[in-house]
Amino acid sequence: MEEKEISQAVIGRLPRYFRYLGELKDQGVERISSRDLSGLMKVTASQIRQDFNNFGGFGQQGYGYNVEYLYNEIGKILGLDRQHNFIIIGAGNLGRALGNYLNFERRGFIFRGMFDCNPDLAGTKVRDVSVMPMEEMERFIAENDIDIAVLTIPKTGAVSVAERLVQTGIRAIWNFAHVDLNVPEGIQVENVHLSDSLMKLSYNIRRGEKLETGEGSL
Ligand code: NAI
Repeated sequence: MEEKEISQAVIGRLPRYFRYLGELKDQGVERISSRDLSGLMKVTASQIRQDFNNFGGFGQQGYGYNVEYLYNEIGKILGLDRQHNFIIIGAGNLGRALGNYLNFERRGFIFRGMFDCNPDLAGTKVRDVSVMPMEEMERFIAENDIDIAVLTIPKTGAVSVAERLVQTGIRAIWNFAHVDLNVPEGIQVENVHLSDSLMKLSYNIRRGEKLETGEGSL
C-alpha cells in the first residue's frame, strides 16, 4: 500500500481505531460498517471514512470493513507488525509501573532493561528485569537491539541522559520527564504529560458545572 503524507491528527486517532478493532476481532466480529463503528467509537462515520481514505479506504462499499484485515493494516501502519525493544531509565514509581505493565508486550513492545543512577537499586528487579547502573546503558543498548528508551527521571537529569541516548543511535524516546528534549532529526520523541489530561478533565468539569447552572458556555 502506498502511503502519502498523513497528518499527525489522523495518526493520533489510529491507535484508538486499532484498539476498538482488536476488541471486535476478539469478539469474533468479521465485518463492521462505518456507521456501526461510528456508533461504537462516538465519532462520525464521515470522519472514519475520511481517516481511512488516507490509506486507500480499506473498505468495500456496502459491505463494511473486514475487521481482521483493517486491524492488521492499521497495525502495519503503526509499525506494530514488528517488535520494538525498549529500556526504562529511572526505576522509581513511574518507571516500575510501566515496567510491570504486561500489555505493552502484546503490542510487540518488549521490556528489556532498566537503569537508574541510585546504586541502592542496582540488582533489584522489575519482573525478570534487573535494574542496572547508568554506566552500562550504552553497551546494553548496542548489544540488545534497543530502539526505544523510556525516560522516567526528573527533568534535571533528563537532558544529559537524552544526549547520551542520542550518541547511541537510539531510534525513539518516550519522554515522561517534564522538559523538552532537543534531539536531532530522525530521532522520534513522544512527550507524555499525564497532568495535561487531568487539566483537560478539570476544564470539562468546570464547563459542565457552568452549563448546569446556566452561566452560559465557555
Ligand atoms: P521517583 O523519584 O520514584 O523515581 C525517579 C527515579 O529516577 C529514581 O529512582 C532516581 O534514582 C532516578 N534518577 C534520577 N535522576 C536520574 C538520572 N539522571 N539518571 C538515572 N536515574 C535517575 O519518581 P517517579 O514518581 O517515578 O517520577 C519520575 C519522574 O517522572 C519525575 O520527575 C516526575 O516529575 C515525572 N512524572 C511524569 C509524569 C508525566 O505524566 N509525564 C507523571 C508522573 C511523574
